[in-house]
Amino acid sequence: MLSVTVTSAEPISDEAAHTRVYELASGCAEHPAVRNPFYELWMAGPLPADQVEIVARNFYERVRRTPDRIALAFLHMTDTVARSETIENLYDETGHGNPAGVHSVLLRGFFEILLSRLRGHPVDFYEITAPILPSTIRLIEEGEKIFSSPIPQTVCGALLAQEWHAYPQLVYLYEGVRNYRSYFGLEEFHESCEYFYLHIGATEKQHKIHSLSVAARMCRTEADLRNLERGFTTYLDLLADNWAEIHATLSEAQRAAL
Ligand SMILES: [Fe+2]
Ligand SMILES: [Fe+2]
Repeated sequence: MLSVTVTSAEPISDEAAHTRVYELASGCAEHPAVRNPFYELWMAGPLPADQVEIVARNFYERVRRTPDRIALAFLHMTDTVARSETIENLYDETGHGNPAGVHSVLLRGFFEILLSRLRGHPVDFYEITAPILPSTIRLIEEGEKIFSSPIPQTVCGALLAQEWHAYPQLVYLYEGVRNYRSYFGLEEFHESCEYFYLHIGATEKQHKIHSLSVAARMCRTEADLRNLERGFTTYLDLLADNWAEIHATLSEAQRAAL
């Protein structure tokens, strides 16, 4: 009887690669990077200023490095179309040439207004003393390593994780942010939320589509898919650890306040 052995070098079709990568990307909805107790706590109700500062400082710290990760991905990609689509993503992150529209600048502006209202006096984001947690530093450092992998499929897997977890992440963060709406005028609130609207609108949808097509294009064998999955899972695990530590830190602060 003839047996068929699928080797790691076995070629896979464009269509099969797209299907497999889509399945991988969709699976992030069940990963603790997306499904975790931090989001439940954040959405459940407003937190005191000290706890908002912990969230703000740690989230901002990694968001401000997003262009670096995308630039590293660009450097470690070989495919021309993939590089072109990745540059568009970087262009979005950096405000289309307008420094005031850089995503991290918009996020910092939002947190400065929110924290100023919660504190009852102007807050300069750079004077916040909340600690940067070890898992935030690990996420940044290990994240940059995975985005610099010499294996292009692993780089594309990390980019796929970044873009596919970003949409639900921003939906949950925005839903939590709505708990503080009463600290703003109605129009002012929506104007201040530009960072969130960019990410739950067309921009992030486009990044999802691009990162999927880039990743699928890079996978021509089973071995490629395994390398892609390694980058994807490694980055999601780093994100999950970060939210878990932020949640543990907030829970501890809440217990101490009792
Ligand atoms: Fe962004
Ligand atoms: Fe994005």
